[in-house]
Amino acid sequence: MSAAHAARGPVLVRTPASSANLGPGFDALGLALELFDELTGEVLDEGLEVLVEGEGAGDVPLGPDHLVVRAMEAAFDLIGLRPTGYRLTCRNVIPHGRGLGSSSAAIVGGILLARELVEGGRELLDDQAVYQLANDLEGHPDNVAAALFGGLTIAWIEGAAAEVVRLDVDVPVTVFVPDAPVSTHVARGLLPSEVAHRDAAANAGRAALLVAALLQAPERLISGTEDFLHQTYRSAAMPDSYQLLRALRVDGVPAVISGAGPTVLAFAHGVEAAAPQGWRVLTPQVSGRGAHVVEP
Ligand code: HSE
Repeated sequence: MSAAHAARGPVLVRTPASSANLGPGFDALGLALELFDELTGEVLDEGLEVLVEGEGAGDVPLGPDHLVVRAMEAAFDLIGLRPTGYRLTCRNVIPHGRGLGSSSAAIVGGILLARELVEGGRELLDDQAVYQLANDLEGHPDNVAAALFGGLTIAWIEGAAAEVVRLDVDVPVTVFVPDAPVSTHVARGLLPSEVAHRDAAANAGRAALLVAALLQAPERLISGTEDFLHQTYRSAAMPDSYQLLRALRVDGVPAVISGAGPTVLAFAHGVEAAAPQGWRVLTPQVSGRGAHVVEP
């Protein structure tokens, strides 16, 4: 591997938060939200410097184990070029461990930043290759698709290839963010290895309905957000979220667990009063933009 004459930077990449699953779209649907983590990269003559502000500051490692650095290094390996050294500054606003796609934002943002820091990076690693690498690092494509492409994404794996259809939607969103995180690893561990055929069939119908409801039939969102594959199984790890979810739905508000939780997402505005004590309430717009470089 050779050292490249890199764009020295600073280069700024912004990556949106994302909500995966949206109820029945388990591991497939993603929605980008206007809550952007910012990464700045600058080439150094040697070494690695990592600075973190905002979410995760003081908690995340500041060296080669940092998730953004791992994503950047994977991208440099794939491109076959790397800068002599670099400084990475992370300004994080996406809450960690809450089901709002912070790890996918780190991975997607890191890969985009890496390709900006080597000469010809955009030609050597196109967006499909970025998506594939991000999926390989994250392990499932739903959040990374939304973080990279923006809007509403339908992601799936064809053989080993990550595929995506991206759609524009305009829908009100409120997210209820509890104080304590739940790890995706723990939440995935609560899922059964098999489900009943009737549940799979019911879920397929609701997932199809959900896409139609998001595009053109908001009155169908309460039915379209009904899930049969994951939320109930995970309720033990996030009982307060599950209680809020049920309370909202009983009131006719289309609500889901965001990703692997514990954040609750409602497709509605004006529902802030439902928030339990101490929870943060945010009303981000759907982001039509995925991760992007801010040109100086
Ligand atoms: N689809 C994933 C899950 C999203 O629910 O486990 C979490 O990253």
